[in-house]
Amino acid sequence: MSRTKVLFICLGNICRSPMAETIFNRIITDHQTQNEFYVDSAGLISYHQGEMADPRMRMHAKRHGYDITHRSRPIRAHDFDSFDYIVAMDDDNYERLYDLAPTLEDAKKIVRMADYCTLPGVSYVPDPYYGGDQGFERVIEMLENACMEFYHSIIDS
Ligand code: 4NP
Repeated sequence: MSRTKVLFICLGNICRSPMAETIFNRIITDHQTQNEFYVDSAGLISYHQGEMADPRMRMHAKRHGYDITHRSRPIRAHDFDSFDYIVAMDDDNYERLYDLAPTLEDAKKIVRMADYCTLPGVSYVPDPYYGGDQGFERVIEMLENACMEFYHSIIDS
């Protein structure tokens, strides 16, 4: 059976999407389904290419028992070919991804992370980069919820 390939996307690939990748990896490890998936993350800008995740994101992640090891990379044209799901954190991500998608078939792979979140009033995963501690904590709360629902939507289908 071929692996389901999931690519999480945000703007800089140093806060939200590496956090989502790390949380999703924890979920598939906990469910012993890691051999059924290939998981990665990328950014829409290359500004932080090669960098570890933002130290604030890593610090908050650590508080919740996560170790983010990903290094930032920009999305590449062939990612649309390689991945089955391309997961956008907010509407700006979604629209930029839509514009980048080489074909309409590829565009159908793009989903919104918040569409899987069952917490009340969540319509996007907000960028914590310019905010304070609370923003990073909120991102983790949303992503833990949304990634679990997203995981089940794949496994149960
Ligand atoms: P992210 O947060 O998209 O969640 O990784 C950001 C990180 C860096 C920038 C913007 C958002 N930036 O403009 O450098």
